[in-house]
Amino acid sequence: MTTKASKTALITGASSGIGQELAKLFAKDGYNLILVARSTDVLNELGGRFWDEYGVETAVITKDLSEEDAAQDVYNQVKAKNLSVDVLVNDAGVGLYGLFATETDWEREKSLIHLNVLTTTQMTKLFLKEMVERNEGKILNLASLVSITPMPLMAVYAATKAYIYNFTQSLINELKDTNVSVTALLPNATDTDFFNKAGAANTKATENLDNPATVAKDAYHALMKGASKVVPGGLVNKAYEVVSYVAPQETLAGMMRKTMQPKAEPKTDEKDNKAALTWGIGLAAVVLAGAAIALVYANSSEYDKVRYRYKAGKIKSGADDVYDDVKDSLLSGLNSIKDAVSTAKEVVAKAKETFAEALS
Ligand SMILES: NC(=O)c1ccc[n+]([C@@H]2O[C@H](COP(=O)([O-])OP(=O)(O)OC[C@H]3O[C@@H](n4cnc5c(N)ncnc54)[C@H](OP(=O)(O)O)[C@@H]3O)[C@@H](O)[C@H]2O)c1
Repeated sequence: MTTKASKTALITGASSGIGQELAKLFAKDGYNLILVARSTDVLNELGGRFWDEYGVETAVITKDLSEEDAAQDVYNQVKAKNLSVDVLVNDAGVGLYGLFATETDWEREKSLIHLNVLTTTQMTKLFLKEMVERNEGKILNLASLVSITPMPLMAVYAATKAYIYNFTQSLINELKDTNVSVTALLPNATDTDFFNKAGAANTKATENLDNPATVAKDAYHALMKGASKVVPGGLVNKAYEVVSYVAPQETLAGMMRKTMQPKAEPKTDEKDNKAALTWGIGLAAVVLAGAAIALVYANSSEYDKVRYRYKAGKIKSGADDVYDDVKDSLLSGLNSIKDAVSTAKEVVAKAKETFAEALS
């Protein structure tokens, strides 16, 4: 790498989400880049864009970082390219949703721990030594706001992030007499592919998501300042952090359990049953009224026949209203089912009236 930029940042997980947003900021600032992830095409495409837009060079290392000694292999490839790393961003990470005892798969959990914990630790070990020898360098570790709270239904993920936060804070103390800084990034739920890949896209946690570009911007400033940690996203997230330090762990676990529940969607069966019931009431009303009219229609005068035909028309339009309400209910959820039921009740009342009138 022989461009105008003199410094190099290595970013794992640069192919999407927060890592990609961070890569854009480094490129804009003139850093050469070493981008690491499995999606080679995306990384190459980013490298091309960064060259065109900012004139910085990018080396791409395709690597599955959940493999044994993945970090050592990345380190060897960096050395083989004769590069040195000024800033290391340990961003690559995954989550996994489900009850630990009965739902989640151990092989996926093992690979998650490998990626989130072992690779991050080994990457730090390998590149930090050189930074300390040069007495210069920066590291950003992706922790999370759940580093400081338990997280039922993503128990192993949260535990890996607790490790990263604790590990980072210890290193900060060990490095306090050097020019090497380590920063922990603690984002709240952020709008990336993370929840989707973790199988948690349909949880309440995804109802309020932070913007990954904003998260990356806050992180970048904190990293450049050498801050020990950064909680992006303004007051709400900072308040959440403070509460997490003081509230009992049991309370936090209960709170997070609620957040990790599926979004409140009515069950399809329940919806179908209620709609069918409503439609049934409406239909019964029409049949009842129709029977009443038919009973008296045959023996009526021509004048009365016109009157009953008119009433039959009114009842049919009531039935149409019921049908429309039921259709809307199915489309928009349970709220309008209530309206459909009350319309059906009105049709029944009308039918009773007609029946009584026809027989009088
Ligand atoms: N989104 C959130 O709500 C949130 C909140 C707090 C913390 N975080 C943390 O932020 C970090 C980035 O996540 P994100 O939200 O940006 O999610 P994302 O969009 O899914 O990005 C994850 C990145 O990690 C890489 N990666 C995943 N598995 C990998 C593997 N086995 N080997 C190499 N690279 C791998 C992915 O690249 P490839 O698939 O191309 O390999 C991708 O670039 C993670 O550490 C996550 O725990 C996220």
